[in-house]
Amino acid sequence: MAESNGRIISIKGLVCEVRLSGDRPAPKELLILADNPDIFLEVASYPTPYTARCINLTGSSEVRRGAKVKPAYGTLAIPETADVLGRALNALAQPIDGGPPITAKTYRSIYQLPSAVQNIGTKPELLETGIKAIDFFTPFVKGRKIGIIGGAGVGKTILTMELIHNVAQDENKLAMFVGIGERVREGHELYQTLQERGILQKTDMIMGQMQETPAMRALVGHTAASIAEYLRDNEKKDVLVFIDNIYRYVQAANELATSIGTMPSEGGYQATLFSDLRRLQDRLSSSPNGSITAVEAIYIPADDLSDPAVQEIAQQLDSTVVLSRAVAESGVRPAVDMVRTVSSLVSPEIVGDRHYLLVTQVQAIMQKYESLKNIIAIIGQSELSLEERRDFERAKKIIAFFTQNFFVTENLTGLKGEYFTREQTLRGVEEILI
Ligand SMILES: Nc1ncnc2c1ncn2[C@@H]1O[C@H](COP(=O)(O)OP(=O)(O)OP(=O)(O)O)[C@@H](O)[C@H]1O
Ligand SMILES: [Mg+2]
Repeated sequence: MAESNGRIISIKGLVCEVRLSGDRPAPKELLILADNPDIFLEVASYPTPYTARCINLTGSSEVRRGAKVKPAYGTLAIPETADVLGRALNALAQPIDGGPPITAKTYRSIYQLPSAVQNIGTKPELLETGIKAIDFFTPFVKGRKIGIIGGAGVGKTILTMELIHNVAQDENKLAMFVGIGERVREGHELYQTLQERGILQKTDMIMGQMQETPAMRALVGHTAASIAEYLRDNEKKDVLVFIDNIYRYVQAANELATSIGTMPSEGGYQATLFSDLRRLQDRLSSSPNGSITAVEAIYIPADDLSDPAVQEIAQQLDSTVVLSRAVAESGVRPAVDMVRTVSSLVSPEIVGDRHYLLVTQVQAIMQKYESLKNIIAIIGQSELSLEERRDFERAKKIIAFFTQNFFVTENLTGLKGEYFTREQTLRGVEEILI
């Protein structure tokens, strides 16, 4: 291998241009500073044959004009070891929990093609979460993707944390928390909660939060996907990957595309929006060795469900839990909008006839409730027929029934958390509908 050298010739924000002589690393491969190998540049493109446009991943100030760089002969990679469990790492797979670095005999690039087998021929398997509204309206099915969609402050993060808490109790499952572009504090809180409850070892946290560069925020999902694939294929685990927030991934990729000089497309988003998302989403799937189930919080900018990025994300999921501001304001937690929450997985083949029929009945009543509420607001309850009154009362009981105290909010609300089996949930609904 010829010793090759490069020199940084210009810098604009996170983007720098490197004049190379000798080897030309392929896009996505790394260059390192000659006098500090801990500082990485990732090659993005070649504007001219010997000028590499690179991204200063961490925004390091050591990246200066004139600095010498050399190829690292590889891409960013994760250590292939179960030691990642119980740890909090950044997009470069470096610890951010104060613990020792994680090393391994082998490393896996963070850029992998999706596994060829995607849930084909596998019998759908339900995963219980203990949260009534989730197990009922959007049951988790092994290897599938669930979205938690809602505007600012409606409870996406709290619901995600509760799901991790409940799932991690299960002996056979691992939960990964992937923080993208959200508050740093929330990651700390989750880490503490998991530690206090003795389930940290069943989890793994990968963070690229809002203080990080767009490059680190855009990469963290891929780093997490490689770790999940390792745990699935080598450790043969069922892995649940919780992403908070997938919208921030799109946003980070968009910021990055803008700084590299790509033209924006629809709604100001990058033209590669679809492929950026697909590249990540398709990796979060099952293989013959184990499964990856993805749960993705989706922020809705300005409460606008028709945002092109939100639409694109939602289309790639099997079901979405819609959290609504109106429901949250009425004090109901979790603030699930029972009319707009839909799941393609609620079918007789997957959940069984009993569950399927109950969901259809409940959704019909809740739809009726929405229109009756408007009528009552105008002309009062006395104008309703007997049947309408019965349904109205049932709807109120249903709303009360799906209200649930969470374990992760015990310190906040002073109320003890509750776990319900799927059977308890179905029976509870049946009792209301009798
Ligand atoms: N299940 C719940 N029980 C009690 N309080 C809740 C619950 N869910 C949400 N809250 C309250 O609402 C606040 C906002 O919730 P959360 O941080 O989960 O919203 P979010 O949808 O993630 O918001 P953002 O888009 O800003 O990240 C919480 O700090 C908490 O006070
Ligand atoms: Mg949040």
